Amino acid sequence: MNQKIILTLISAFALTSFNLHAAAPTLKSVMQGLSTAMNSLNEGIFNEDYTAIELAAAKVADHPKPKGQLPTVIKTLNIRMIKFKSIDSKVHDAAVDIVALAKVKDINGILKKHTIIMNNCVSCHTQFRTEISDALKK
Ligand code: HEC
Repeated sequence: MNQKIILTLISAFALTSFNLHAAAPTLKSVMQGLSTAMNSLNEGIFNEDYTAIELAAAKVADHPKPKGQLPTVIKTLNIRMIKFKSIDSKVHDAAVDIVALAKVKDINGILKKHTIIMNNCVSCHTQFRTEISDALKK
């Protein structure tokens, strides 16, 4: 892939990741929020509570961005930022789909997207978590 495309992708990620409304959270606090939202999503699924499912999925989709720490993440991952971003997008897109599926009460569709979210949460962790965690501690 050529350098220009890579740089464009990285800066696009950085820009869309700046949430100007919220005080800059840390990656860790964002992750803790995602974890809580996923627990609410599970509970919603078990209770067939589509309002709760929709709310929880919307939280996963629109999670705050760790604005202050993002430069360290980009610096650490460099070209691998593309992979990181792609996993992040899979989580985002599946959560957006769940919001729509909750409106039509499609539990099977929701479960399929739930699996995609879970797989990608874990996929990012196994590939990048320790490395990023260490870099952020420096
Ligand atoms: C694109 C990468 C990526 C994705 C996707 C991702 N995470 Fe993480 N997650 C991380 C990184 C990196 C850390 C380590 C952060 C740190 O230590 O500062 C982390 C840490 C965590 C932690 C530990 C927080 C703590 O207190 O130490 C939890 C819980 C977590 N993630 C939940 C989730 C959930 C739930 C999802 C999916 C909805 C998810 N993550 C998706 C990258 C990701």
